[in-house]
Amino acid sequence: AYTAKIGPSILSSDLSQLGRECERMMECGADYLHLDVMDGHFVPNLTFGHPMVECLRRCIGPDPFFDMHMMVSRPEQWVKPMAAAGANQYTFHLEATANPGNLIKEIRESGMKVGLAIKPGTTVEELAPWARQIDMALVMTVEPGFGGQKFMEDMMPKVSWLRSQFPSLDIEVDGGVGPDSIHRCAEAGANMIVSGSAVVSSDDPRSVIALLKNVVIE
Ligand code: DX5
Ligand code: ZN
Repeated sequence: AYTAKIGPSILSSDLSQLGRECERMMECGADYLHLDVMDGHFVPNLTFGHPMVECLRRCIGPDPFFDMHMMVSRPEQWVKPMAAAGANQYTFHLEATANPGNLIKEIRESGMKVGLAIKPGTTVEELAPWARQIDMALVMTVEPGFGGQKFMEDMMPKVSWLRSQFPSLDIEVDGGVGPDSIHRCAEAGANMIVSGSAVVSSDDPRSVIALLKNVVIE
C-alpha cells in the first residue's frame, strides 16, 4: 500500500524567481518539491546548494516537503548543511559513495528521510541490498544532469522489479516524465513522480499535475 505523489522539479523554471516558482507549484497541486543539486563533477552541470535551500525554506514556510536530489560526488559532505537548511529528504546516488550504509545512518541521525538514486547504467540488484533501510528508491529515467531529456522506457523493468520485491517502498522516477510517459511509470509501480519541463513549462501546470496524479492513482 502506497500513495502517489507528484513532485515538480524546478530546474527548468525561472531560477531568478525560485521562491515564487516553488509557491506556484504548490498552489497548482504539487505534493512535494524535487530540488536538483548538481556539483559540476558528478554531473556536467551546476545548480545550487544549501544556502539556496535555506532561503527557499524561509520563503515558502515549514510545510512543503523538500526532496533533495543530490547529484554530487561527495554526498557525505552536505548531509548536515542540508538538514540545517530545512531539507526533508536526502536522496543520494549509489554511484557516488563507497559506504552507503554509513551515509544512510548519518542522514537518519540528522532527521531527514533517506532516498537512494541509481543512474540508468546502474542495476537494480546493486540497490536492492539497501532497500529495506531507505524510505525511497529513485530510478533515473534519463542520464542525470539536465532537464528536458527523453524518457528512457527501458528503465521500467527496474521499477517493476523493485515494486514486486518491496511492496511498500516509495519508488520515484525522474527524467522525461510527463503526460506521454506517465502510464508506463504507473504500470511499473512508481508512486513518486518527478516532472520538470512537462509541468513547469506548461501554460497550465495545474492540469498537468492533476493528469499525472490521476494516472498513478488509477
Ligand atoms: C535531471 C534531474 C531531473 C530533471 C527533470 O538530472 O535530476 O530532476 O530536472 O526534468 P525533466 O522532467 O524535464 O526531465
Ligand atoms: Zn532530479
